[in-house]
Amino acid sequence: MTASEILYERALKHIPWGTQTNAKRPILEYSGTMPYFIERAKGCRFWDVDGDEYIDYRLSLGPVILGYGYPSVDAAVKGQLEKGVLFSMASPVEIELAEAISRIVPSMEMVRFGKNGVDANASNVRIARAYSGKDKMIRCGYNGYHDWFSTGISGNGVPRILADYVYEVRYGDVEQVESILKSDASNISCILSSPYDFNEDISGDYPRALRKLADEYGVILIFDEVLTGFRLSICGAQEYFGVRPDLSSFAKAVANGFPLSVFGGKRKLMEKLNDFVITATYAGEALSIAAAIATLKVMETEKVHDHIYRMGQRLMDGFTAIAKRVGVEVKIGGFPVASYFLFDYKDSEKNRKLHVELNRELYKERVFVYDRWFMSFSHKEADIDLTLERFERALKKAVKD
Ligand SMILES: Cc1ncc(COP(=O)(O)O)c(C=O)c1O
Repeated sequence: MTASEILYERALKHIPWGTQTNAKRPILEYSGTMPYFIERAKGCRFWDVDGDEYIDYRLSLGPVILGYGYPSVDAAVKGQLEKGVLFSMASPVEIELAEAISRIVPSMEMVRFGKNGVDANASNVRIARAYSGKDKMIRCGYNGYHDWFSTGISGNGVPRILADYVYEVRYGDVEQVESILKSDASNISCILSSPYDFNEDISGDYPRALRKLADEYGVILIFDEVLTGFRLSICGAQEYFGVRPDLSSFAKAVANGFPLSVFGGKRKLMEKLNDFVITATYAGEALSIAAAIATLKVMETEKVHDHIYRMGQRLMDGFTAIAKRVGVEVKIGGFPVASYFLFDYKDSEKNRKLHVELNRELYKERVFVYDRWFMSFSHKEADIDLTLERFERALKKAVKD
């Protein structure tokens, strides 16, 4: 048994799932190859409890945009630690970060902080309901585990009645959103949607259509930029696609892995917070705020997005050349900062099996990826080239077996 497997057995005795996060649960199909527990990480690499070193393209599910243990971010956190973590009244770093976000993301006229993406989405929806006086919402995709975003599923502890207040729509289906608005706009406070769902359509047509519909029917548009924010561009997908929401939720990449989320948007909506209570003890926790200030500073001064797009493109070009050499039918797409490599045969079961085989071989080659190839500022050309060497070996084995 590996150290990973021994720890997993131990974890399951006291922790349901053996971990805290759904996506970090060990997957049976990958057993014997997937690292279950990670001891430490630096740059674009991590070391698992068995002592193996991996090049990481999962980046803690998105947050680690600069790289693990990025020196200026860690220095800012250590500096803040000397002063304190959490105080009995507000701390000036809250203002510094709020100003930085408003300067960088023009739609964020006013902001507040939370800890997880779900906090930001739940807070924005509350603001939209309070402002509009309407109770229902249209939403799309994964917005977090909160009750409002998990309706219509039985046995998950969410009151069934909440389903009457939530229209869940398919990403990209403009007609579906329009027909709901046509029939029920007078009861709908907001549309909550990610502006990009990490699939094939990178045109931005869907978020632009949502903006148009929201204006036409008088509902508030909330962008869930938890995964796209500070990744697609420094301002997220909204800047990339040129569409401005009324409210936005940011988390993940804002603080390079430190726990922080940000919600906010139009001043007139955010000022509604003076009339009711959204509050959390740890929302002003200063280490994560210091980390976010330092992360944004690096993004603003060091052309981080130029670099991650360039490295991502190098990886995608390499994939294309390798797929041709090996002779496999694939689709390679998405944004270079979070691309995908998928098998593209007519038989979907064959595609799925090959995908699992490829991931197994990649893990054996010590390259860690799941669905999307996230890029960080610490991935340099040599890391990409080494990854491509390993990828070619893995692909050849995956299609041979
Ligand atoms: C688009 C999107 N929204 C919301 C969330 C929830 O964020 P958190 O897990 O930080 O609550 C996620 C998490 O992956 C996400 O990808």
